[in-house]
Amino acid sequence: MREWSREALVAQALQAREHAYAPYSGYRVGAALLGRSGRVYTGCNVENAVYPLSICAERAAVVRAVSEGEREFVAIAVATANGGTPCGACRQTLREFGEDIVVLIADASGTFRETSVAGLLPDSFSAADLG
Ligand code: THU
Repeated sequence: MREWSREALVAQALQAREHAYAPYSGYRVGAALLGRSGRVYTGCNVENAVYPLSICAERAAVVRAVSEGEREFVAIAVATANGGTPCGACRQTLREFGEDIVVLIADASGTFRETSVAGLLPDSFSAADLG
């Protein structure tokens, strides 16, 4: 993987957020997931009148990437109105593909902070635990 731009990935997450379908919560989320290939897979939250069926932006991006054959990831940027962090389900879904994935958490202005999957989900359960 060549050099990549944190700012550019955040910009793609902000762009993806524009597509969020969040008529129930009003909380729009965008994600941009950078694969080792250099490709970026975006996602947004897609809610449903049957509330539990809603899918988060991060998992939408992971599902899209894996469906297109990418399984190794460098980083994910997540954009919300107020810099909200990925939920537990999304942390575990990302963990499936590595602990070292960089996570950029941005607000609507594009201001972001940096952590990692391990930072968000310490002492995690993974395939290794299955023996
Ligand atoms: N949401 C995400 O898309 N990602 C997260 O990590 C947290 C929550 C969405 C789900 C729902 O559509 C809305 O934000 C409010 O929970």
